[in-house]
Amino acid sequence: MSSATKCPFCDVGGRVVAENELAAALRDAEPASRGHTLVVPKRHCTSFFELSAPEVAACFALLSQQRDKLLAEFRPDGFNVGVNDGAAAGQSMEHTHWHLIPRYRGDHPDPRGGVRHVVLVGMMGAGKSTIGRRLAARLHLPFLDADTEIEAAAGMSIPEIFEVHGEPHFRDGEARVIARLLESGPAVLATGGGSFMREETRRRVSDKAISIWLKADADIIMRRVKRRADRPLLQTADPAATVGRLIDEREPVYQRADLTIASRDVPHEKIVEECIEALHARLCGPAAPSEATAGIMGGLR
Ligand code: S3P
Repeated sequence: MSSATKCPFCDVGGRVVAENELAAALRDAEPASRGHTLVVPKRHCTSFFELSAPEVAACFALLSQQRDKLLAEFRPDGFNVGVNDGAAAGQSMEHTHWHLIPRYRGDHPDPRGGVRHVVLVGMMGAGKSTIGRRLAARLHLPFLDADTEIEAAAGMSIPEIFEVHGEPHFRDGEARVIARLLESGPAVLATGGGSFMREETRRRVSDKAISIWLKADADIIMRRVKRRADRPLLQTADPAATVGRLIDEREPVYQRADLTIASRDVPHEKIVEECIEALHARLCGPAAPSEATAGIMGGLR
């Protein structure tokens, strides 16, 4: 028996709710929402990219027709429409198929699936760059460091920007650079410790990314920052008191990040692992993700 004859999508039988010459529509057996519909080509085909133009057109005609039917029957507020192509993208049935998932306002705590950045926030010395670089490698995403990008854009170091132009000028540039970086393709972005204090930046981060607060206590921060003199805010008579004050001011704001991970003196890989687990739980929920939710609704990329 060929794989095609065993394939449940080659023999949809009584499940068909509509069909045309080259494709069929059926309701998903494990719906992600009320009315979740699948559109499958009649010919057994693994990849969407192997379909002929008439097959794509036939599938599209059914998607469009089913959308109208679902709108009339269930009155959803929106739809996820998509194909998971390849096992790595969440394709679980070998026979290629479109998901048409009606969405209802409030039916998912965070329905902004698709392409998302991971943004690390937190105090200087919390490990945003060190952890960010390793997290990016694990997620196969580029790593971006906002401080480095600001220095490149300004053609000077951060201490020089503070000295020549002052902190308000630095903060405006920082907000602009982060906005620009968030417009590029998905990446892991380490932000400077003060950037999340700006409301406009928090809004942008919340629109485009999942944010992780790397939370470190004052002792750890002091131990890490005293090795270097490149933090202009700490060029004070009592850097420990300055760190304490900044922590008091900033922690209530950092707390608004989507996720919090304790940064402490353990191997970096442990913190990275905790970030990945928290991201997975956030995107896919605590239960094992279904194909549709893992692939279309909120894959990391
Ligand atoms: C700052 C943190 C620094 C840098 C600048 C100001 C802050 O970045 O942006 O010195 O206000 O906390 P790191 O958090 O990467 O050290």
